Amino acid sequence: MCGIVGYIGGREAADFLMDGLTKLEYRGYDSAGIAVYHDGAIAVRKKKGRLVNLAEEVKVHPVVGTIGIGHTRWATHGGPSDLNAHPHTDEAGNFAIVHNGIIENYMELKEELLEKGYRFKSETDSEVVAHLCADMYDGDFTRTVQRVLARLRGSYSLVFMSRFEPDKIICSKKDNPLIVGLGEGENYIASDIPAILSYTRKTYIMNDGEIAIVKKDNVWVTDLEGNPISKKVFEVNWDAEAAEKGGYEHFMLKEIYEQPKAIKDTMGCRISEDGSHVQFEELNWTTEDVTSIGKIMITACGTAYHAGLLAKYFIEKLARIPVEVDIASEYRYRNPLTDSKTLCIVISQSGETIDTLAALKEAKRLGARSLAITNVVGSSISREADQVAYTWAGPEIAVASTKAYTTQLVTLLLLALYMGRLNGTLTADEESRILHDLTAVPDVCRKIFDCADEIKAMCSSFEGKEDVFFIGRSMDYGLAMEGALKLKEISYIHAESYAGGELKHGTLSLIEEGVPVIALATQKDVEEKMISNIKEVKARDAYVIGVVQEGDTEVRKTVDTLITVPASDNFVVPIMAIIPLQLLSYYIAVSRGNDVDKPRNLAKSVTVE
Ligand code: F6R
Repeated sequence: MCGIVGYIGGREAADFLMDGLTKLEYRGYDSAGIAVYHDGAIAVRKKKGRLVNLAEEVKVHPVVGTIGIGHTRWATHGGPSDLNAHPHTDEAGNFAIVHNGIIENYMELKEELLEKGYRFKSETDSEVVAHLCADMYDGDFTRTVQRVLARLRGSYSLVFMSRFEPDKIICSKKDNPLIVGLGEGENYIASDIPAILSYTRKTYIMNDGEIAIVKKDNVWVTDLEGNPISKKVFEVNWDAEAAEKGGYEHFMLKEIYEQPKAIKDTMGCRISEDGSHVQFEELNWTTEDVTSIGKIMITACGTAYHAGLLAKYFIEKLARIPVEVDIASEYRYRNPLTDSKTLCIVISQSGETIDTLAALKEAKRLGARSLAITNVVGSSISREADQVAYTWAGPEIAVASTKAYTTQLVTLLLLALYMGRLNGTLTADEESRILHDLTAVPDVCRKIFDCADEIKAMCSSFEGKEDVFFIGRSMDYGLAMEGALKLKEISYIHAESYAGGELKHGTLSLIEEGVPVIALATQKDVEEKMISNIKEVKARDAYVIGVVQEGDTEVRKTVDTLITVPASDNFVVPIMAIIPLQLLSYYIAVSRGNDVDKPRNLAKSVTVE
């Protein structure tokens, strides 16, 4: 949701800014721009569309200088255009800013500034910040930034530069991510770690209400009133290569193939050496911690919400605790029944999704205990929650989530087993049997990759199709929802998911000859019922792709074609069964010539409501 970068040091700023923006392009790709200071002036280059357009512009009209800021945009206020692209400057070109977030009171500020005679060039909310700097400048850039920030409502990460004090860039944040990278004789600012990984691993993770005054040789952090804050250096342990494509055509494909490792890393030492039980050292719960839970409230968005839907099955079946799952943007506005007996679990790959963060704050306000499941150490959600269980998926760059989802499922299943044992609802035998199958996943799921060509060949069944249905029962229903989302977001094919038993209550009217139906039938306990549902769509001449466990003898008789996943326990098989659906969506999107890693209108890490 917009990526921002900044550089100050001894090298050409444009080199870092363009490289950093490339790493952040997944956060938005409606337009991009940079501003670089040189010889008393700030030069701005910005272009609508992908970063390549800006790169072309910078090639034709280079900018020199060792201090600069940059931005890649996901449009909110004002459509994608050169003028709406950041950086924004005041009329005299004394200040330049880049912004991620929404300035909620921008209309009020804009009217005030218009009355004073300021002229606006863009339709964005962000431009007010540049004019405010000009309006409030009192000869001290840092103090001016403090006073400007005091006037803003909404969410932001902001980077400021001024031609009056070209020895520094200044940044601050509220509800949007921001880090400062610490180098030798140079320092960096970015929305997210991948932008700085090839330059430094030492960072300050900025908190709300902090301002960093970033100079070439030092970084000074204060609160909004200018009182010094002592920051701890956060050392990033990601592998720089993990954030690169590593020979794959797309990040999404690379991330699909990284799932065995991501799953293994996420299980890590959370399973006892003899494989008999779960040990969640980071939670360290007592029996009382679990028996005192009256209800679990899971809240998240998109794919993470879909992981929550499966968690309801995991936890209710294994730990016998009632679970509600709600979309974060709905939860926070429905006056939810949450109290001190509620455990609120939020799930978020990025740890920055604003709806999820706000839902977490609301649950805490209502007295709930909270647990975050997130992939990003130090993220806003990880810091807000009482406890955190990390998914160790490594950086996920493609907009369509893959390895984050499967590692969320692994973490949630481990959590359900852990709670089941502490709650006395799970036998030791059952726990070790499920764990036996779970620990086998990283190895056996590789068999799915052996069928990648067969899955790719299935794309032809989707040629010219604009509607696809996903059906499933029990945990396969949750999986159907995630399968449909994957297909929609990258192939732009309309896809719907239904509980197998629901079709006859309305949707069956949409099934006609040749309509593709992906029937998930991996859950043994509902297999017969699922076969009946497949027959219902077959009777209307749908084209059915069945997804089954290895060894299936019955479903194959009813479908047109089959995807087989390794046989496993009912709780474990969804973790594998999503992989062929990810691959299928990927290949369909590629066959349609779509930009798989950056699907239209979307962005990774949604930091606006
Ligand atoms: C879809 C996808 C999104 C995210 C959602 C929440 O592939 O990635 O639906 O799952 O925006 O993001 P996080 O998990 O970062 O909170």
